[in-house]
Amino acid sequence: MPTTRRHTFRLASWLALVGVTLMIGAGSSVAQSEGVTFTRDIAPILQRSCQHCHRPDSVAPMSLLTYEEARPWARAMKSRTALRNERGAMPPWFIEKNIGIQSYKDDPSLSEAEIATIAGWADSGAPRGDMADLPPPKYVAGGEDGWRIGTPDLVLRSREVTVNASGADRWEPIGVVPTGLTEDRYVEAVEIREVNDIPKEGGSNTVGGRFVLHHLNYSSHVVESEQPDAFTGETTTVWPVHEVGRNADIFPPDAGRILAAGSVLNLETAHLHSNGRETKAYLEFAFKLHPVGYKPSVTWVRRLTANGVDISIKPTTADQQLHAYTVLEQHTKILTFEPHMHAPGVRMCLEAIWGHSVQTLTCAGYDHNWVRSYVYADDAAPLLPEGAILHLTGFMDTTPGNRNVADPRNWGGGGRRSVANMFIDLGEAIALTDEEFEREMGERRERLGLTKNDVVIGCPLCQVRFPSQKAAP
Ligand code: HEC
Repeated sequence: MPTTRRHTFRLASWLALVGVTLMIGAGSSVAQSEGVTFTRDIAPILQRSCQHCHRPDSVAPMSLLTYEEARPWARAMKSRTALRNERGAMPPWFIEKNIGIQSYKDDPSLSEAEIATIAGWADSGAPRGDMADLPPPKYVAGGEDGWRIGTPDLVLRSREVTVNASGADRWEPIGVVPTGLTEDRYVEAVEIREVNDIPKEGGSNTVGGRFVLHHLNYSSHVVESEQPDAFTGETTTVWPVHEVGRNADIFPPDAGRILAAGSVLNLETAHLHSNGRETKAYLEFAFKLHPVGYKPSVTWVRRLTANGVDISIKPTTADQQLHAYTVLEQHTKILTFEPHMHAPGVRMCLEAIWGHSVQTLTCAGYDHNWVRSYVYADDAAPLLPEGAILHLTGFMDTTPGNRNVADPRNWGGGGRRSVANMFIDLGEAIALTDEEFEREMGERRERLGLTKNDVVIGCPLCQVRFPSQKAAP
């Protein structure tokens, strides 16, 4: 029987895999006790997961490019990486590894073996090792322009703002920026960074202290000449929000977003935050563009599962939960998960409910210093049928253990200010027609070699809609 053979084969390969994993496990613990070195063991980890931030002219306070630079931070590296998905963790990536979908794009997180390797290195005096083991450098100081999306085709710049040394948070428009485009273009990727005059050795211990433009909602549209505020819908794009510490956005190849001829970036609402010294700052917007003539083939939906109205956050209380539900009105492929809360937020989970199947898609820790999005890998992006229910749970902690909370004694409601609270999944999705939905599921079944008995997290109909069953109710 083909099915039995298949299962036998799977069991055998699974056992083989367990065997290999055990061997790797044993090997790495030997390596730990027998002298982990920087050149052989630590440098490759830093190159992959740390140096794009920890190098001159990037967001982090110190460079970790060389042994001399990294060595003084050995103990701090051990303790920050050991936090895994909790507030303060390095790298700032908070996906929980024991639940939900595990494949994301651009995932810098460390394996358990790598966390142990860093700890072993710190505990054994952070030795350098043989220079011959050192991999070729990935970043050369001053050697590149530092954009994560690669070399951009268009870089736009906001006007400069001055933020006083102290004062209440401001929430205001910071102007429009002409794109200068003479024909419609579609955007493949966008990245934003703040350029300011805060000294590199500023002594601030949060990423927020290094920047003053904490957050920006912006869109692009064509300005009608007589009415400067009017814009036409089909040339409008609402871009993903900019946040301090947030990652770049790389859109799926078939879902480029329009940056229209004659359009402007409208920097509608910027959140300006005083950080103790008068600061001048502006934003740079880097776009990678599709070639002229490209047209996207899919429709975007902004999938907001949120509840901002009846938030009530009690003082000095751990494990407070908020819940929100959305019924999907179209077949939907979810591209990203983007937990958005404020200081009390420590965790968010997204579930999909379809009939009596309830699946956790993603649970992620949350650190309000790092408001970021997670992009599902192509074969892992949830494919949900019309009528499925999304259930979002936010976890809040207002005890002194959550150091992001300014004063644990305060009650908090919902609102836009940082001292108020939000509870939103800002993730994005595309709507699928019946044909597209069937096709995407068919392709996934083929690529992953699925049988009718396989359960795929995030694709409740993947194992049901085999072509022979298409007509079934
Ligand atoms: C997305 C950018 C980014 C990545 C990736 C990143 N860091 Fe950081 N790191 C920062 C920023 C910004 C700070 C300062 C704010 C803070 O302490 O949270 C920081 C702080 C630290 C600190 C604490 C420094 C202190 O003053 O005590 C350590 C240690 C550290 N990072 C190590 C690492 C290691 C090791 C990795 C890779 C495994 C890594 N970081 C990856 C941006 C990053």
